[in-house]
Amino acid sequence: MRILSGIQPSGILHLGNYFGMMKPSIALQEKGEAFYFIADLHAMTTVRDGDKLRGFVRELALDFLACGLDPSRTAFFRQSDVPAVNQLSWVLSTVAPMGLLERCHSYKDKIAKGVAPSHGLFSYPVLMAADILVYDSDLVPVGKDQKQHLEVTRDLAIKFNEIYGEVLKVPEPQISETTATVPGLDGAKMSKSYNNTIELFPEEKALRKKIMGIKTDSTPVEEPKIVEGSTLLTLYRLVAGAEEVVAMEDSFRAGGTGYGEYKKRLFEAVMDYFAPMRERRAALQADTGAVDEILVAGAKKANAVAEEVMGRVRKAVGL
Ligand code: TYM
Repeated sequence: MRILSGIQPSGILHLGNYFGMMKPSIALQEKGEAFYFIADLHAMTTVRDGDKLRGFVRELALDFLACGLDPSRTAFFRQSDVPAVNQLSWVLSTVAPMGLLERCHSYKDKIAKGVAPSHGLFSYPVLMAADILVYDSDLVPVGKDQKQHLEVTRDLAIKFNEIYGEVLKVPEPQISETTATVPGLDGAKMSKSYNNTIELFPEEKALRKKIMGIKTDSTPVEEPKIVEGSTLLTLYRLVAGAEEVVAMEDSFRAGGTGYGEYKKRLFEAVMDYFAPMRERRAALQADTGAVDEILVAGAKKANAVAEEVMGRVRKAVGL
């Protein structure tokens, strides 16, 4: 089974990225042949500064490796190091119905948030489909916000196969129930563009400040708090042990404790959860040459598969 996923270097990674995609991807690297890449071409739709983009790519690579991506099991590479992706993207764009792309909500959302409506942003799902289809991927672990893009990918593969014969493999998404949408500080989906993120490896002080800023209701200290839909509890469940979670839920129902106390517990649980990864990150940071070598080796593996699939595609379409 080939497992594939990508992540954009469009800013600093956050807990939504980690629990929605990185953690499940890392768990899956034991289950098959994993291909994980840094979507630098996609990030160009929002990052328009070469040095900045290179910096984000580097930080992202460090983060993913620190979190447990194992380069001896997994091909870890930069999207832009696989030229076949761009060629397949063009091929797919010739069969992609305009209406299908016009219905994509991530494009509409980004425009609504003030991102310049470029052609690249519009055709983003076609490039993403190429990312997936060029490796004959079976399974794609993602957060819920990517569900529609996976549907477009499947639609394009099926459409291409209807026209040219059974050439492309139709992939399946994997979206974990518990981490499909990690909430941000305000309770909405955690997202760079909503300015509500908790970063993966912030300074301790900055992390404390962020967590103390989580939006809560105005229930007085002595009264019971609402368990259902609590952002604090949802985040706590991601990082705390089962017993600690039950204790916090019981305490919510009992009343007598203020949100400030719960935030402190969440802060400590986040610090503990990521402590080993922080350590690993510091060690990796000292050896940037090694990170480059990992990405180059990953691209070599990825290109070998992509060239084989593109061989079939070129033959089918007459290139
Ligand atoms: P990106 O870079 O926005 O996000 C990377 C991954 O993190 C997940 N995610 C979340 N999951 C749960 N809760 C959240 N609050 C949250 N925020 C982000 C995303 O669902 C995603 O899985 N288009 C992709 C990158 C991409 C890609 C691909 C993915 C390009 N080509 C091919 C898979 C396959 C994106 O923008 O993800």
